[in-house]
Amino acid sequence: MSDPMRLLRERNLAVWSSGDWDEMAPFIAPVGARLLDRLPVASDTRLLDVGTGSGSSVAIPAAQRGAAVTGSDITDAWFPAARRRAEEAGVDVKWEVGDAAELPFADDSFDVVTSTFGHMFAPGHAAAASELARVCRPGGTIGLCCWTPQGKVGQMFIRLGGHMPPPPEGFQPPPLWGATSDRWSVPRPCSAKAGRPSARTSSSSRPR
Ligand SMILES: C[S@@+](CC[C@H](N)C(=O)[O-])C[C@H]1O[C@@H](n2cnc3c(N)ncnc32)[C@H](O)[C@@H]1O
Repeated sequence: MSDPMRLLRERNLAVWSSGDWDEMAPFIAPVGARLLDRLPVASDTRLLDVGTGSGSSVAIPAAQRGAAVTGSDITDAWFPAARRRAEEAGVDVKWEVGDAAELPFADDSFDVVTSTFGHMFAPGHAAAASELARVCRPGGTIGLCCWTPQGKVGQMFIRLGGHMPPPPEGFQPPPLWGATSDRWSVPRPCSAKAGRPSARTSSSSRPR
């Protein structure tokens, strides 16, 4: 990992270790159930949930469906809440600290790898995508949910990005996960003259 990416990782860790994610988690938890309904999760499926937070979207519901679940996150700040939630749900989940771009698991360790709005915060998307694929066994399934550039949350991130200093080369804004450079431009910095962000999800072709 290059020095600028390491610095971004440290910032990412600081951001996600502050505030109270567990208070926000219930608002997006229903997405996890919708994701799980589309995945081959059965008794003893080895499932890794990346960027698990307090586990309420995927890790704990997957364990309730019988999967052998590991929840991993760049910070352990939400693991006490995760343990409490798992205990209340009557399930066992392993909680492990790990960066999506450097997952602390052996190749082919899991049948299913998921992330609901966690993997997309790794500053280097290609590195995170490689890691998700590396730890998933051949023929396994990767299921991801992302905030997109055209959605409200994606728009919020893009506008906030317009007020930040330009990121180091190689940084990929979270809502641009999966976007190709010919479809979406990276948000431009804030226009000081206008006093408001000039960021736009501009592109020559709208998403389909
Ligand atoms: C929006 S929250 C989603 C949490 C959880 N998946 C859920 O649905 O409630 C984003 C989560 O991703 C984690 N995260 C951010 N960057 C990460 C990274 N590079 N690697 C692993 N986890 C990361 C944060 O700590 C946080 O728990």
